[in-house]
Amino acid sequence: MARLNINGTVHEVDAPGDMPLLWAIRDLVGLTGTKFGCGLAQCGACTIHLDGEPVRSCQTFVEDADGAKITTIEGLNGHVTETVRAVWTEMDVPQCGYCQSGQILATVALLTENRNPTDEDIDASMSGNLCRCATYHRIRAGIHEAAKRLEA
Ligand code: FES
Ligand code: FES
Repeated sequence: MARLNINGTVHEVDAPGDMPLLWAIRDLVGLTGTKFGCGLAQCGACTIHLDGEPVRSCQTFVEDADGAKITTIEGLNGHVTETVRAVWTEMDVPQCGYCQSGQILATVALLTENRNPTDEDIDASMSGNLCRCATYHRIRAGIHEAAKRLEA
């Protein structure tokens, strides 16, 4: 058995230490907002926060989360998150939406660290989050708009 602290709730799951967190979160706990894309830490669809840091849950394992706080899209909250959610909705950032949990987790991590990111900062933080609908220009515009509102 493993104990996973997800979004403030401890879940006891029957999972080996080498199970990808993505499977434990989706299949054992039933939180399906975190998506499977590549399984190889190359697309960002499975992004979660581990103690506030964005990680790829397809290549982060149950044993890595021992004693850590896991946050998924379902539990992400606070001022930065609410600002990003509002901007994402108002600016119609998503298209199909599949990548957007990961995009939002990565964006919130970026704006928590850096309230006024340049295009270069955005590229550095977001380049690992792929979007097959190519919403990159809207994501970039959304990040700048959210940053502006957070600075106001
Ligand atoms: S599914 Fe984890 S990075 Fe693609
Ligand atoms: S919005 Fe469709 S994959 Fe990004």
